[in-house]
Amino acid sequence: MRGRLVGAAADDAPVDDASVGAALAASGRVLGSSALRDLTRAARAELAGAGPLQPLLDLPGVTDVVVNGPHDVWLDRGEGLERADVDLGTPAALRAFAVRLAALAGQRLDDAAPVCDGRLPDGTRLHAVVEPVAPTGAAISLRVLRQSGLAFPDLVAGGGVAPGWEGLLRGLVAGRANLLISGGTGTGKTTLLAALLALVPADERIVTVEEARELAPAHPHVVPLATRRANVEGAGAVGLTELVRAALRMRPDRIVVGECRGGEVREVLLALNTGHDGGLATLHANAVEAVPARLEALAALAGMTRDAVAAQVVAAVDVVLHLRRERGRRFVAAIGVVVRDGHGFAVREAARWDGCSAPAVQDAQAWERLGARWAA
Ligand SMILES: Nc1ncnc2c1ncn2[C@@H]1O[C@H](COP(=O)(O)OP(=O)(O)O)[C@@H](O)[C@H]1O
Ligand SMILES: [Mg+2]
Repeated sequence: MRGRLVGAAADDAPVDDASVGAALAASGRVLGSSALRDLTRAARAELAGAGPLQPLLDLPGVTDVVVNGPHDVWLDRGEGLERADVDLGTPAALRAFAVRLAALAGQRLDDAAPVCDGRLPDGTRLHAVVEPVAPTGAAISLRVLRQSGLAFPDLVAGGGVAPGWEGLLRGLVAGRANLLISGGTGTGKTTLLAALLALVPADERIVTVEEARELAPAHPHVVPLATRRANVEGAGAVGLTELVRAALRMRPDRIVVGECRGGEVREVLLALNTGHDGGLATLHANAVEAVPARLEALAALAGMTRDAVAAQVVAAVDVVLHLRRERGRRFVAAIGVVVRDGHGFAVREAARWDGCSAPAVQDAQAWERLGARWAA
């Protein structure tokens, strides 16, 4: 039956009562209608979704499900990781499960390619590592693609943005500032980016470029582009640099780069400096002070000198929004501006927020200039 359904699924036939019924009939078995429904649900989970993990992914608010071993499954619904009561059998079964998920994502996962990064058909991001690299059979990380995410007003209401900063952030988007969103892993960069994109006027065309699709902003005109890995023969890879170049030719009103993580930063800076204003990008950096070194390191991958990076960044980036995660809360911790600093550049904090008390102005001149230019 599995074989028949897999064959049908390959033809893009939906796994529904009819197809399961047909496969059953062909196997010579008969089931009542409620049993057929249960079987359909099980078959769909097994063949089309994340199998035994699908119920966890479907729980309200769940953003991540991670598997460290067959009896070591965790989920995150916003309050950190919680252990989930799921039994995935033996290490060998877990490995087979990871391989099946990878196949669903159109990726190879085996001894020769034991790490895979891809996307399940419903948009869920899959990262999997199998034996021998992961001795427990497999280590799997799933990140749910949430269609709506958090709207900007929700971010403000939830304490993600200081109340006094709301107007400036709205003004930055409306005034087409070039924004760099920085922060450590899981600090809410992508979430803030999506929320800001939802504030972009509906008549603007947004082209998003990402390594793996995560962004699903609530905006009527978004063209999502995502990189592709090489196929089994090592051909057909499309990287971020190529996608940024492609995006520029697609008549975008806004270029958005999900996360700058390599030499594509050169194309991004060039774009922002050549009339493509209103661009947004995120960058991994654990502190505001770390932003320049990080940008320099990435740009060096594309052969840019420190001097050239500084000149480009000073001209291209209007504002840096830095995020922090503390005691389970994620918030914009600093609003910075880019200034020249010798041969390099620095990000100067105009204002800072600890997430609780009133935000503190760090550089009165910079803060006033920001307000005068961008405040809504
Ligand atoms: N302000 C916020 N309030 C509550 N949850 C948030 C907030 N910002 C982000 N999150 C959640 O935190 C997780 C990580 O956010 P994400 O934007 O993916 O971080 P990053 O892009 O920095 O790695 C997501 O599950 C997201 O839904
Ligand atoms: Mg992100």
